[in-house]
Amino acid sequence: MQIDRPGFVLRAWTFEDEEPLVRHANNPRIAAMMRDEFPSPYTPGDARRFIAAAGDTVSYLYLAIDVNGEAVGSIGIQPLDDVRRRTAEIGYWLSESLWGRGIVTDAVHSIIPVAFERFDIIRLEAGVISNNPASMRVLEKCGFVREAVHQKAITKNGATFDEIVYVCFGDGAGQ
Ligand SMILES: CC(C)(COP(=O)(O)OP(=O)(O)OC[C@H]1O[C@@H](n2cnc3c(N)ncnc32)[C@H](O)[C@@H]1OP(=O)(O)O)[C@@H](O)C(=O)NCCC(=O)NCCS
Repeated sequence: MQIDRPGFVLRAWTFEDEEPLVRHANNPRIAAMMRDEFPSPYTPGDARRFIAAAGDTVSYLYLAIDVNGEAVGSIGIQPLDDVRRRTAEIGYWLSESLWGRGIVTDAVHSIIPVAFERFDIIRLEAGVISNNPASMRVLEKCGFVREAVHQKAITKNGATFDEIVYVCFGDGAGQ
């Protein structure tokens, strides 16, 4: 799976990405906006574990955001299970040096149809920490709707935040 966009490519992870993955992901300003499963500090072992997990393209879809041949970020689709199995979560991060150029907006926009085509889902959602307006703006630009505020649902780095839930339906409902 490869998606070519102006200025970047979304493509599969390979073990050659280990060094740039650590270099770009090892940033507390990125980790601060992610779940705790995103390591901080981000070590070579963490990178290898992530790349190995990303090789499972049946259960989920994790693609590298590649700029000039270098993995500089990640975008992922993770279907949930049990009664939530027709919902998938979308997640992403980008190297801080590239923030503000529209890259992740384009990446999210590009992966939405792929997510609905590849998985038997009817709902794509993102849970954003309330202190992350950039991510909310990305989702809004891609047609996601602000659906709910889960009050005080998130504890991150010792502080409590609301979780803002954004949703996108494959049929465009709610957009
Ligand atoms: C959130 C993140 C993925 C955005 O990536 P990006 O490529 O910089 O995003 P884009 O350039 O496509 O769009 C960012 C938008 O947010 C806006 N924005 C940035 N900072 C903002 C702020 N403090 N307040 C309001 N809007 C802000 C930008 O102006 C832009 O909107 P615009 O096009 O209307 O001007 C990136 O900042 C990141 O990796 N952050 C850390 C990890 C993270 O937050 N992951 C998501 C967890 S839910």
